[in-house]
Amino acid sequence: MLGGPLADVAAADDRDADHSADSTTAMQLRQRIQELEAAAMVAAGMAHDVSSIAMAILGFAGHIRLDVPPGSELEHAAADIERAAMRVGQLGQRYLAVANRRITPRTRVDVAATVREVVRRLAIGFQPTTEVVVQLEAETPIIIGDAVQLHQVVTNLVVNAAQALDTTPGTITLRLAHRRVAGPVGATPWATPDRPGGEYLLLEVADTGPGIDPLIMARLFEPHVTTRPSGHGIGLATVLAAVDAHRGFIAIDSAPGRGTTFGVHLPLG
Ligand SMILES: Nc1ncnc2c1ncn2[C@@H]1O[C@H](COP(=O)(O)OP(=O)(O)OP(=O)(O)O)[C@@H](O)[C@H]1O
Ligand SMILES: [Mg+2]
Repeated sequence: MLGGPLADVAAADDRDADHSADSTTAMQLRQRIQELEAAAMVAAGMAHDVSSIAMAILGFAGHIRLDVPPGSELEHAAADIERAAMRVGQLGQRYLAVANRRITPRTRVDVAATVREVVRRLAIGFQPTTEVVVQLEAETPIIIGDAVQLHQVVTNLVVNAAQALDTTPGTITLRLAHRRVAGPVGATPWATPDRPGGEYLLLEVADTGPGIDPLIMARLFEPHVTTRPSGHGIGLATVLAAVDAHRGFIAIDSAPGRGTTFGVHLPLG
Protein backbone atom coordinates (compact mmCIF):
# COMPACT_ATOMS: atom_id res chain seq x y z
CA MET A 1 0.00 0.00 0.00
CA LEU A 2 1.32 3.43 -0.85
CA GLY A 3 1.35 6.41 1.51
CA GLY A 4 2.32 10.11 1.38
CA PRO A 5 2.66 12.16 -1.84
CA LEU A 6 3.24 9.08 -3.95
CA ALA A 7 -0.10 7.68 -2.86
CA ASP A 8 -1.82 10.91 -4.00
CA VAL A 9 -0.16 10.71 -7.40
CA ALA A 10 -1.13 7.06 -7.80
CA ALA A 11 -4.73 7.84 -6.75
CA ALA A 12 -4.85 10.75 -9.22
CA ASP A 13 -3.55 8.46 -11.96
CA ASP A 14 -6.28 5.95 -11.15
CA ARG A 15 -8.94 8.68 -11.28
CA ASP A 16 -7.62 9.90 -14.65
CA ALA A 17 -7.63 6.34 -15.93
CA ASP A 18 -11.25 5.95 -14.69
CA HIS A 19 -12.27 9.22 -16.36
CA SER A 20 -10.67 8.39 -19.66
CA ALA A 21 -12.18 4.87 -19.55
CA ASP A 22 -15.57 6.51 -18.86
CA SER A 23 -15.26 8.96 -21.71
CA THR A 24 -14.04 6.25 -24.09
CA THR A 25 -17.08 4.12 -23.17
CA ALA A 26 -19.40 7.13 -23.55
CA MET A 27 -17.89 7.93 -26.95
CA GLN A 28 -18.22 4.32 -28.09
CA LEU A 29 -21.84 4.27 -26.90
CA ARG A 30 -22.63 7.51 -28.71
CA GLN A 31 -21.07 6.14 -31.87
CA ARG A 32 -23.02 2.90 -31.51
CA ILE A 33 -26.28 4.83 -31.04
CA GLN A 34 -25.54 6.86 -34.17
CA GLU A 35 -24.89 3.68 -36.15
CA LEU A 36 -28.12 2.12 -34.89
CA GLU A 37 -30.05 5.31 -35.69
CA ALA A 38 -28.69 5.26 -39.23
CA ALA A 39 -29.53 1.56 -39.62
CA ALA A 40 -33.07 2.18 -38.30
CA MET A 41 -33.56 5.00 -40.80
CA VAL A 42 -32.40 2.86 -43.69
CA ALA A 43 -34.67 0.01 -42.50
CA ALA A 44 -37.62 2.40 -42.21
CA GLY A 45 -36.99 3.75 -45.69
CA MET A 46 -36.79 0.23 -47.11
CA ALA A 47 -39.94 -0.90 -45.27
CA HIS A 48 -41.66 2.18 -46.63
CA ASP A 49 -40.56 1.50 -50.21
CA VAL A 50 -41.50 -2.18 -49.95
CA SER A 51 -45.00 -1.22 -48.74
CA SER A 52 -45.46 1.26 -51.56
CA ILE A 53 -44.28 -1.16 -54.24
CA ALA A 54 -46.51 -3.90 -52.81
CA MET A 55 -49.47 -1.50 -53.08
CA ALA A 56 -48.66 -0.87 -56.73
CA ILE A 57 -48.36 -4.63 -57.46
CA LEU A 58 -51.67 -5.14 -55.66
CA GLY A 59 -53.28 -2.53 -57.89
CA PHE A 60 -51.93 -3.97 -61.14
CA ALA A 61 -52.85 -7.56 -60.16
CA GLY A 62 -56.36 -6.33 -59.34
CA HIS A 63 -56.69 -4.84 -62.83
CA ILE A 64 -55.51 -8.09 -64.43
CA ARG A 65 -57.96 -10.13 -62.35
CA LEU A 66 -60.88 -7.94 -63.48
CA ASP A 67 -59.80 -8.23 -67.13
CA VAL A 68 -59.44 -12.03 -67.44
CA PRO A 69 -62.19 -14.63 -67.70
CA PRO A 70 -63.64 -15.53 -64.29
CA GLY A 71 -62.44 -18.92 -63.05
CA SER A 72 -59.54 -19.00 -65.53
CA GLU A 73 -55.99 -19.96 -64.59
CA LEU A 74 -54.96 -16.35 -65.10
CA GLU A 75 -57.57 -15.16 -62.65
CA HIS A 76 -56.23 -17.55 -60.01
CA ALA A 77 -52.66 -16.43 -60.72
CA ALA A 78 -53.66 -12.76 -60.37
CA ALA A 79 -55.43 -13.53 -57.09
CA ASP A 80 -52.27 -15.28 -55.84
CA ILE A 81 -50.20 -12.22 -56.74
CA GLU A 82 -52.69 -10.01 -54.89
CA ARG A 83 -52.48 -12.17 -51.77
CA ALA A 84 -48.68 -12.21 -51.85
CA ALA A 85 -48.48 -8.45 -52.43
CA MET A 86 -50.94 -7.86 -49.60
CA ARG A 87 -48.78 -9.95 -47.27
CA VAL A 88 -45.61 -8.09 -48.27
CA GLY A 89 -47.41 -4.76 -47.80
CA GLN A 90 -48.55 -5.79 -44.33
CA LEU A 91 -45.07 -6.91 -43.33
CA GLY A 92 -43.67 -3.59 -44.54
CA GLN A 93 -46.29 -1.74 -42.47
CA ARG A 94 -45.37 -3.76 -39.39
CA TYR A 95 -41.68 -2.97 -39.76
CA LEU A 96 -42.61 0.67 -40.20
CA ALA A 97 -44.59 0.65 -36.97
CA VAL A 98 -41.51 -0.62 -35.13
CA ALA A 99 -39.18 1.76 -36.94
CA ASN A 100 -41.51 4.61 -35.98
CA ARG A 101 -40.17 4.53 -32.47
CA ARG A 102 -36.79 5.71 -33.68
CA ILE A 103 -35.60 9.28 -33.34
CA THR A 104 -35.20 10.86 -36.76
CA PRO A 105 -33.71 14.04 -38.03
CA ARG A 106 -36.33 16.56 -39.11
CA THR A 107 -36.39 18.04 -42.57
CA ARG A 108 -38.60 20.44 -44.49
CA VAL A 109 -41.58 18.41 -45.74
CA ASP A 110 -43.97 19.59 -48.44
CA VAL A 111 -47.10 17.73 -47.32
CA ALA A 112 -48.96 18.88 -50.45
CA ALA A 113 -46.39 17.01 -52.57
CA THR A 114 -46.74 14.00 -50.25
CA VAL A 115 -50.52 14.02 -50.72
CA ARG A 116 -50.21 14.20 -54.53
CA GLU A 117 -47.62 11.41 -54.56
CA VAL A 118 -49.65 9.07 -52.32
CA VAL A 119 -52.84 9.63 -54.33
CA ARG A 120 -51.05 9.05 -57.63
CA ARG A 121 -49.51 5.83 -56.31
CA LEU A 122 -52.58 4.40 -54.58
CA ALA A 123 -55.41 5.51 -56.87
CA ILE A 124 -54.47 2.93 -59.50
CA GLY A 125 -55.47 0.17 -57.08
CA PHE A 126 -58.80 1.73 -56.11
CA GLN A 127 -62.14 0.35 -57.22
CA PRO A 128 -63.44 2.02 -60.39
CA THR A 129 -66.40 3.15 -58.25
CA THR A 130 -64.12 5.20 -55.97
CA GLU A 131 -63.70 8.87 -56.83
CA VAL A 132 -60.75 10.79 -55.41
CA VAL A 133 -60.88 14.56 -54.92
CA VAL A 134 -57.80 16.53 -53.85
CA GLN A 135 -58.30 20.06 -52.56
CA LEU A 136 -55.03 21.75 -51.69
CA GLU A 137 -55.10 25.32 -50.44
CA ALA A 138 -52.72 27.45 -52.48
CA GLU A 139 -49.30 27.74 -50.84
CA THR A 140 -49.80 25.24 -48.04
CA PRO A 141 -47.07 25.73 -45.45
CA ILE A 142 -44.01 23.51 -45.19
CA ILE A 143 -43.74 21.30 -42.10
CA ILE A 144 -40.49 20.62 -40.28
CA GLY A 145 -40.85 16.93 -39.67
CA ASP A 146 -40.16 13.34 -40.60
CA ALA A 147 -40.95 12.78 -44.28
CA VAL A 148 -41.29 9.00 -43.91
CA GLN A 149 -43.72 9.26 -41.01
CA LEU A 150 -45.85 11.90 -42.75
CA HIS A 151 -45.98 9.72 -45.86
CA GLN A 152 -47.23 6.85 -43.69
CA VAL A 153 -49.93 9.07 -42.14
CA VAL A 154 -51.37 10.00 -45.55
CA THR A 155 -51.01 6.45 -46.92
CA ASN A 156 -52.72 4.74 -43.98
CA LEU A 157 -55.64 7.19 -43.89
CA VAL A 158 -56.21 6.94 -47.64
CA VAL A 159 -55.96 3.13 -47.64
CA ASN A 160 -58.47 2.97 -44.76
CA ALA A 161 -60.83 5.31 -46.60
CA ALA A 162 -60.62 3.18 -49.76
CA GLN A 163 -61.21 0.01 -47.75
CA ALA A 164 -64.18 1.64 -45.98
CA LEU A 165 -65.79 2.38 -49.35
CA ASP A 166 -64.88 -1.02 -50.78
CA THR A 167 -67.06 -1.61 -53.88
CA THR A 168 -69.76 0.88 -52.85
CA PRO A 169 -69.57 3.97 -55.06
CA GLY A 170 -68.22 6.87 -53.07
CA THR A 171 -65.67 9.64 -52.74
CA ILE A 172 -62.42 10.11 -50.89
CA THR A 173 -61.57 13.77 -50.38
CA LEU A 174 -58.15 14.99 -49.29
CA ARG A 175 -57.84 18.57 -48.09
CA LEU A 176 -54.87 20.54 -46.92
CA ALA A 177 -55.33 23.92 -45.28
CA HIS A 178 -53.75 26.34 -42.84
CA ARG A 179 -55.73 26.50 -39.56
CA ARG A 180 -55.57 28.72 -36.51
CA VAL A 181 -56.69 26.73 -33.49
CA ALA A 182 -58.12 29.11 -30.91
CA GLY A 183 -57.50 27.45 -27.57
CA PRO A 184 -55.78 24.41 -26.11
CA VAL A 185 -57.15 21.13 -27.45
CA GLY A 186 -58.20 18.65 -24.77
CA ALA A 187 -57.15 15.02 -24.80
CA THR A 188 -59.54 12.86 -26.82
CA PRO A 189 -60.93 9.48 -25.73
CA TRP A 190 -58.16 7.89 -27.80
CA ALA A 191 -55.60 9.65 -25.64
CA THR A 192 -54.04 12.32 -27.80
CA PRO A 193 -52.40 14.55 -25.16
CA ASP A 194 -53.48 18.17 -24.73
CA ARG A 195 -52.12 20.50 -27.37
CA PRO A 196 -51.82 24.28 -27.25
CA GLY A 197 -53.74 26.57 -29.59
CA GLY A 198 -51.84 28.15 -32.47
CA GLU A 199 -51.04 27.68 -36.14
CA TYR A 200 -51.56 24.22 -37.59
CA LEU A 201 -51.48 22.54 -40.97
CA LEU A 202 -54.71 20.57 -41.30
CA LEU A 203 -54.74 17.42 -43.41
CA GLU A 204 -58.24 16.04 -43.84
CA VAL A 205 -59.00 12.64 -45.30
CA ALA A 206 -62.74 12.19 -45.70
CA ASP A 207 -64.73 9.32 -47.14
CA THR A 208 -68.41 8.76 -47.80
CA GLY A 209 -68.24 5.20 -46.43
CA PRO A 210 -70.24 3.53 -43.65
CA GLY A 211 -68.56 5.38 -40.75
CA ILE A 212 -66.48 3.92 -37.93
CA ASP A 213 -67.96 1.02 -36.02
CA PRO A 214 -69.07 2.61 -32.68
CA LEU A 215 -67.93 -0.53 -30.84
CA ILE A 216 -64.28 0.21 -31.59
CA MET A 217 -64.38 4.02 -31.56
CA ALA A 218 -62.79 4.43 -28.11
CA ARG A 219 -59.98 1.98 -28.91
CA LEU A 220 -59.54 2.98 -32.55
CA PHE A 221 -55.83 3.80 -32.33
CA GLU A 222 -54.79 0.82 -30.23
CA PRO A 223 -52.60 -1.70 -32.04
CA HIS A 224 -54.43 -4.82 -33.23
CA VAL A 225 -57.90 -3.25 -33.07
CA THR A 226 -59.50 -4.10 -36.39
CA THR A 227 -62.87 -5.00 -37.88
CA ARG A 228 -61.45 -6.21 -41.19
CA PRO A 229 -60.84 -9.96 -41.63
CA SER A 230 -57.46 -9.32 -43.27
CA GLY A 231 -56.63 -6.27 -41.12
CA HIS A 232 -53.88 -6.07 -38.51
CA GLY A 233 -55.01 -2.94 -36.72
CA ILE A 234 -51.59 -1.41 -37.30
CA GLY A 235 -52.51 1.47 -39.63
CA LEU A 236 -54.05 3.90 -37.15
CA ALA A 237 -51.57 3.00 -34.39
CA THR A 238 -48.85 4.05 -36.84
CA VAL A 239 -50.73 7.26 -37.68
CA LEU A 240 -51.13 8.23 -34.02
CA ALA A 241 -47.46 7.49 -33.23
CA ALA A 242 -46.38 9.69 -36.14
CA VAL A 243 -48.77 12.55 -35.29
CA ASP A 244 -47.72 12.41 -31.62
CA ALA A 245 -44.06 12.52 -32.66
CA HIS A 246 -44.89 15.80 -34.47
CA ARG A 247 -46.79 17.13 -31.42
CA GLY A 248 -49.97 17.20 -33.47
CA PHE A 249 -53.47 15.95 -32.79
CA ILE A 250 -56.23 14.15 -34.65
CA ALA A 251 -59.89 15.11 -34.83
CA ILE A 252 -62.46 12.57 -36.02
CA ASP A 253 -65.91 13.11 -37.39
CA SER A 254 -67.74 9.90 -38.10
CA ALA A 255 -71.28 8.63 -37.87
CA PRO A 256 -72.85 5.38 -39.07
CA GLY A 257 -73.90 5.75 -42.69
CA ARG A 258 -72.55 9.30 -42.93
CA GLY A 259 -68.89 8.69 -43.67
CA THR A 260 -65.71 9.52 -41.82
CA THR A 261 -63.32 12.45 -41.69
CA PHE A 262 -59.90 12.25 -40.05
CA GLY A 263 -58.42 15.71 -39.38
CA VAL A 264 -54.70 15.51 -38.74
CA HIS A 265 -53.40 18.77 -37.22
CA LEU A 266 -49.64 19.34 -37.43
CA PRO A 267 -48.21 22.37 -35.61
CA LEU A 268 -46.40 24.97 -37.71
CA GLY A 269 -43.21 26.52 -36.53
N1 LIG B 1 -62.24 5.54 -42.90
C1 LIG B 1 -62.74 4.59 -42.10
N2 LIG B 1 -64.08 4.29 -42.14
C2 LIG B 1 -64.59 3.34 -41.31
N3 LIG B 1 -63.85 2.61 -40.43
C3 LIG B 1 -62.53 2.88 -40.35
C4 LIG B 1 -61.91 3.86 -41.18
N4 LIG B 1 -60.60 3.89 -40.87
C5 LIG B 1 -60.41 2.96 -39.91
N5 LIG B 1 -61.56 2.35 -39.61
C6 LIG B 1 -61.77 1.28 -38.61
O1 LIG B 1 -60.65 1.26 -37.76
C7 LIG B 1 -60.08 -0.05 -37.72
C8 LIG B 1 -58.59 0.08 -37.46
O2 LIG B 1 -57.95 0.69 -38.56
P1 LIG B 1 -56.40 0.40 -38.77
O3 LIG B 1 -55.97 1.12 -39.99
O4 LIG B 1 -55.67 0.64 -37.51
O5 LIG B 1 -56.36 -1.17 -39.00
P2 LIG B 1 -56.88 -1.98 -40.26
O6 LIG B 1 -57.16 -1.07 -41.40
O7 LIG B 1 -58.05 -2.81 -39.79
O8 LIG B 1 -55.66 -2.94 -40.55
P3 LIG B 1 -54.23 -2.51 -41.15
O9 LIG B 1 -54.22 -1.02 -41.32
O10 LIG B 1 -53.24 -2.96 -40.15
O11 LIG B 1 -54.14 -3.22 -42.45
C9 LIG B 1 -60.44 -0.67 -39.06
O12 LIG B 1 -60.45 -2.08 -38.99
C10 LIG B 1 -61.86 -0.09 -39.26
O13 LIG B 1 -62.81 -0.82 -38.52
MG1 LIG C 1 -55.66 0.30 -42.01
